[in-house]
Amino acid sequence: METESHLSCVRCNQKYPLAAGGVKFTCDCGGLLDVVHDFSVLPIQDERILKSVFMQRRWFQDTRGDKSGVWRFRELVLPGLKDHEFVTRGEGNTRLYGPDLFTRTNRYIGGPHVYCKHEGENPTGSFKDRGMTAAITYAKRSAGRIVACASTGNTAASVASYAALTGMPAVILIPEKGVAIGKVSQSLAYGAKTVKVRGDFDAALALLLAASEQIPGLRILNSVNPFRLEGQKTIVWEAFEQLAWNAPDWIVVAAGNLGNGSAFGKAISEARALGLITKTPRIAMVQAAGANPFWGASQNGWRKCVVRADTIASAIKIGDPVNYDKAVRAITSTDGVVVQVTDQEIMDAKAVLDSDGVGAEPSSCAAIAGLKKMVDVGVAKWNQTVLVVLTGHMLKDPDATVGYHSSSLPNLACSRANAPVTIDPTVEAFKKIIT
Ligand code: F0G
Repeated sequence: METESHLSCVRCNQKYPLAAGGVKFTCDCGGLLDVVHDFSVLPIQDERILKSVFMQRRWFQDTRGDKSGVWRFRELVLPGLKDHEFVTRGEGNTRLYGPDLFTRTNRYIGGPHVYCKHEGENPTGSFKDRGMTAAITYAKRSAGRIVACASTGNTAASVASYAALTGMPAVILIPEKGVAIGKVSQSLAYGAKTVKVRGDFDAALALLLAASEQIPGLRILNSVNPFRLEGQKTIVWEAFEQLAWNAPDWIVVAAGNLGNGSAFGKAISEARALGLITKTPRIAMVQAAGANPFWGASQNGWRKCVVRADTIASAIKIGDPVNYDKAVRAITSTDGVVVQVTDQEIMDAKAVLDSDGVGAEPSSCAAIAGLKKMVDVGVAKWNQTVLVVLTGHMLKDPDATVGYHSSSLPNLACSRANAPVTIDPTVEAFKKIIT
């Protein structure tokens, strides 16, 4: 690839060629590897021209890359690729819902101007597609033979879908229990070899990382793969663009394996370095209280913490997040915060967000619950602008939604339930329920 990009260890700065990145995720010292670009060789240096190129590609959609909300930023994602090399489903270009479109949610949060970027509107219903297009493009380019991931469900659905585009077989490892039904159905339907591991997500990922060392040609597409994060950076760049490049005060997102929050930190520092934005938004990463190792570390001088995870927000049921060092960097470089919220707070926030008519899966709603908490304690202020990234589609986890509205979720009060009613097929009965 004709590019000045390379890999660099986030701990010791040891450099590796980019070509190693499809297979090698950690430095010899154990630190995570980051993709580092040399933007001084960018053919366009003027940030106003860069912005207009990104926008024109979206507008005219001349090429496959231009149609994608990831590859229209290609110079800053993975420079040097040819258009035919992109493994893309035209991901990204998701809506940014302003405060007028989520009025109940804005009222519930009670203060700032909240914009929700709905990454559930990607082809497979989650933000993972943004990372996947980058990681699988590179996996194919580096002669990968099989793609694989461990997943709480969404990565699996995305791997399965994008692998179907390439002809490479996909193997997905999911915890034996607790994966949302919408996600499992996608992996099965898209034709991935679906493996239920007796254990949790952390056990499945550890198994995959160990096995990969013995299987040449296997390409892991979890967020430990640094190319995934390069694709996910575009979530915030696209949101900045939708806000006319006026960076918000806060970016709030649910955090599990800490890939997204890490990608956002990198996106912000690169956007600042390029002059695309002139202020640094603060990142808030929100964890479920039952799956809160990163929150624990933030309270303990960043001493790494591992927990046994348990939460109704199954996508973020992760006790030993892999992107720990990158996430610490994202929080410290943006003066960010880590917040934890209970399952009750998550499901109540979800009931409110859903009632605005679009909705999201439980994990995404941790961000809404976390922002409400930040406003309640005065960390986020009424006159600030907040970007909330909604990570997954509401239909991913119908059991959680129906369970709440049927008041059948164990140990949770479902005070905002919109319970279904059953009637006899008579006009009298119908009239009774609508008056
Ligand atoms: N929200 C949703 C809907 C997710 O699926 C995930 C992660 C997250 C938030 C957390 O993002 O890991 O980058 O901090 N899901 C992964 C998966 C783990 O396997 O689908 P993160």
